[in-house]
Amino acid sequence: MTMNIAILAGDGIGPEIVAQAVRVLDALKSDGLDITLEHGLIGGCAVDATGEPYPEATHQLALQADAILLGAVGGPKYDALPRAQRPEKGLLAIRKALNLFANLRPAILYPELAAASSLKAEIVSNLDILIVRELTGDIYFGEPRGIEIRDGLRVGYNTMIYSEAEIQRIAHVAFQAAQKRKRSLCSVDKMNVLECTQLWRDVVEEVSKDYPDVILSHMLVDNAAMQLVRNPKQFDVIVTGNMFGDILSDEASMLTGSIGMLPSASLDSNNKGLYEPIHGSAPDIAGRDIANPLATILSVAMMLRYTFNQEDAAQRIENAVKKVLAQGLRTRDIAGEGFQMIGTRTMGDAVLSHL
Ligand code: IPM
Ligand code: MG
Repeated sequence: MTMNIAILAGDGIGPEIVAQAVRVLDALKSDGLDITLEHGLIGGCAVDATGEPYPEATHQLALQADAILLGAVGGPKYDALPRAQRPEKGLLAIRKALNLFANLRPAILYPELAAASSLKAEIVSNLDILIVRELTGDIYFGEPRGIEIRDGLRVGYNTMIYSEAEIQRIAHVAFQAAQKRKRSLCSVDKMNVLECTQLWRDVVEEVSKDYPDVILSHMLVDNAAMQLVRNPKQFDVIVTGNMFGDILSDEASMLTGSIGMLPSASLDSNNKGLYEPIHGSAPDIAGRDIANPLATILSVAMMLRYTFNQEDAAQRIENAVKKVLAQGLRTRDIAGEGFQMIGTRTMGDAVLSHL
């Protein structure tokens, strides 16, 4: 089976971190995996080259690929652009265009990095949560939306909307993920105020009938935000809508103290996927060879696992990353007292040496 992978490095630190992940893919290729890579533009670099954050050529490339590896998009240079040309729009466009509705965001605490968490070690030790975030619906895409004048005053508005079909399909993904883990799923909503999320709760409850082996609970989003810092280990899999998932996944990633370590997958219903680090384009440190490439490298592991069913290769990468950490090698973001601080490329070298 040929694995056709589109590489969209994007902006800021994107090209540097993706370069290290590509070295990992090249190494797997030398070991016999049938991998082809093609590069394309997304985000600010695409705006610079074509005027659009998600050009048609990139869409065609992404459509033909089996999987996509993305670095990061955005930067201060683009902040003043009209909304349709903002780099973030490129990311939203590719998610929508490819129907990548299921966003898997693991928050795992690597024992070697426990000191990097802002929470006490006993609260976060061995933390391993999976957030399943719906990614192509909700207030992110709901219409009508806009800013307009009403009675001489500006008003801004968006629409929070979910159909039952959209809720069903993400619920199935979440229940199936829970079946492969501790069989416990917490669905997060705001049903005490928002009708849209009352429907969410009702539909998740209905879908749960297909998964009697999974224990389903529900939690309001404000409480979930609190519980995540109070006692995060009560969670195994969390499923929630696009906006709540955006917020809670940032919170969960910070519990691990190392947002630079966390990969993510955005899947369609055939496990075609876009894989990217959870962190952003970090324009302040771009081009300085100090960014942490591990989240991007671990995104390749997720790609091999979810899109290509290559569990062995996925574990090879994950084990190589663990060995590098055990060896005491750290990029600046995860460095603490007594560790050897290394740059982006040297971190890539270290992972390759353990692969
Ligand atoms: C994320 C990001 C994006 C989102 C932005 C960049 C559009 O925050 O992937 O979490 O809100 O989905
Ligand atoms: Mg976000």
